[in-house]
Amino acid sequence: AGTFPFTGEHQAGIVTPAQDRLYIAAFDVTTDDRDDLVALLQRWTTIAARVTQGLSAGPFGPAAGPYDAPPDDTGEALDLPPAGLTVTFGFGRSLFVDADGRDRFGLADRLPDALLELPHFPADNLDPARSDGDLVVQACADDPQVAVHAIRNLSRAAFGAATIRWTQLGYGRTSSTSTAQRTPRNLFGFKDGTANLKVEETAAVDEHVWVPAGQDDPKATWMTGGSYLVARRIRMQIETWDRTSLREQEALVGRTKGEGAPLSGGTEHTEPDFTVTGRDDVPLVALNSHVRLAHPTQNDGVRMLRRGYNFTDGNDALGRLDAGLFFIAFVVDPRTHFVPMQNRLSRDDGLMEYLQHTGSGLFAVPPGVPEGSLVVGSDGT
Ligand code: HEM
Repeated sequence: AGTFPFTGEHQAGIVTPAQDRLYIAAFDVTTDDRDDLVALLQRWTTIAARVTQGLSAGPFGPAAGPYDAPPDDTGEALDLPPAGLTVTFGFGRSLFVDADGRDRFGLADRLPDALLELPHFPADNLDPARSDGDLVVQACADDPQVAVHAIRNLSRAAFGAATIRWTQLGYGRTSSTSTAQRTPRNLFGFKDGTANLKVEETAAVDEHVWVPAGQDDPKATWMTGGSYLVARRIRMQIETWDRTSLREQEALVGRTKGEGAPLSGGTEHTEPDFTVTGRDDVPLVALNSHVRLAHPTQNDGVRMLRRGYNFTDGNDALGRLDAGLFFIAFVVDPRTHFVPMQNRLSRDDGLMEYLQHTGSGLFAVPPGVPEGSLVVGSDGT
């Protein structure tokens, strides 16, 4: 846990070793005044810089200040340590242009080509109320109360300028983002994060996560050092999965359930060998297995930094859990690093029989806030 710096070249909460808990919120901006939007981002930056360092949202704190005014912090984190809290901000396409393509805040000339409207993927069953948004705030911490406190105070500071569109609580990180971390498991019971991009692989992180300087798109120069956050709320058909044989489960993933080793042999961190065949020349890592279809060798060398969480949001009327994986990935460009892979997975991945994508979002995550700067995403203009 501990404390992670808020300022820096990149925003925290991306290559930061994935904390145990997530609270993520997308907001709709309700003001049409550019100055109000800038002021909101200023307030958010100030609060995030404070709460990530274990300070209260405002200078007085929850139990001091003018007695006849509401306290400047809500108080539920008063006695708690910062628990590794990071707060990561992102901008949705709809912040730049509205549904009719109209420039909302004079920002259309900064709309990166990469911040595209995601296509409809095969079998998508997206709920608009759980999708998109003008702004996103990802809070991660090892204590859920600390993450909720951060979002609650930011949402309070948004009053009059933005309202919450959707939120998601997540527990049990489903990825490791550092080699120092143990590989966790998702709700299918499989290790998740084995082959993930790790912060220690600095060259690969530079190539696949951070937007480089000197891109072709002049509208995206402000994104240098930033990244794109892809969010997918993926419901799992848990009850059906739990009636599926171990053989079938392993075949669909392409790895063993216990060790997480590829079905072509070895241990957890052995690279899968797609050429190894068994009886009747059938590949041991099946053609429709998730690991084969998501592997860089099948995707033009593409890798992504996955940073998802398990979720359980009660149950439906049939008594089935509304549970699954809140998939989050950070990528250098969703056009090369997400859309093609998601298309292929949605079409061919055997796991899809047990999955339903119910929410979606794509956000441009600006670079880190320099020491002394007051606005996240500001390029000085
Ligand atoms: C790997 C599960 C959704 C991309 C894996 C692994 C598991 C898994 C068990 C193997 C262990 C590992 O390397 O982490 C799931 C489940 C999903 C899901 C249960 C949905 C609920 C997705 C989505 C994408 C994706 C939506 C991207 C569009 C990947 C990638 C790998 C991977 C890139 C690493 C492949 C490799 O390099 O070997 N996933 N995944 N996954 N998954 Fe998923």
